[in-house]
Amino acid sequence: MRVGVLMGGESSERSVSLRSGQAVSDAITELGYDVVAIDPKELYETLDALTSVDKVFIALHGSLGESGHVQGLLDWLKIPYTGSGLASSALCLNKLRTRQILAQRGFHYANWHSVHREHAMAENIAIADSMGYPLVVKPSSQGCSIGVNKVESPDELATAIRQAFDYDDDILLESFISGREYTCGILGDRALPVVQICSDTFFDWSAKFGAQTASYHCPSDLAAETEQAIQQLALNAFHALGCRGWGRLDVILGDDGKIHPIEMNTSPGMTPRSVFPMATREIGLDFPQTIEQILALASF
Ligand code: DAL
Ligand code: MG
Repeated sequence: MRVGVLMGGESSERSVSLRSGQAVSDAITELGYDVVAIDPKELYETLDALTSVDKVFIALHGSLGESGHVQGLLDWLKIPYTGSGLASSALCLNKLRTRQILAQRGFHYANWHSVHREHAMAENIAIADSMGYPLVVKPSSQGCSIGVNKVESPDELATAIRQAFDYDDDILLESFISGREYTCGILGDRALPVVQICSDTFFDWSAKFGAQTASYHCPSDLAAETEQAIQQLALNAFHALGCRGWGRLDVILGDDGKIHPIEMNTSPGMTPRSVFPMATREIGLDFPQTIEQILALASF
């Protein structure tokens, strides 16, 4: 079997995707399959490379790769690919639409507002002031906390809003949820053991990929009952959003005792530092075995 590994791309998560793609490619080689590494920057070159493969592992993160675009192309070419289809990928990359759907289904969210680029800054500031501080400002459609800032006081707000608008036309203002962070992978129909994220600082891009300020723990510190509640919530969200194959829901377990969904990742990071393979190790799958299972679920 020849497996195309899509990696890199042109999103702001390119560097993470290259690391995921390298690890995935090495694992596929170890499994005894041929790898065709494809960095989809040139459409015609990409199409040409895709004609020679039997399946595609999508190791792209963020816009154009995790967003339904590539998934639609592969549907059209009738090449089985890993992970969610076009509509769910597009939905999950859009945090605003995701939370509108999940909130409607009864998932719990703290106080939040969305603002559009065309709103006057004064209007945005009035909304934020009415919510109180601290709050978190984030672009609707980015991964890896790119463009995300925690705002402690009104004088930091305008800069944070402008930074988020560098990435998207819609941004979210959320009341900061005090609590602990967890993430729960889904493989097929199964929720994986929950991974606990410990960060000395706000868990942003630099905590994720810069100096090692974050640490990950699996098994987590959770009581069995809470672990199961997070797993059930992750599975419910996965189904409500129409996801397939694999994914990973990030949540905050608030000091209020509630589980707050943060985002559904339809193409989770697979770098050597990533949490998804940490969770599958806990159920007895090493990295290549994990990749093999994700590939076995590939479809179009
Ligand atoms: N968006 C990154 C890759 C993740 O959540 O794993
Ligand atoms: Mg993400």
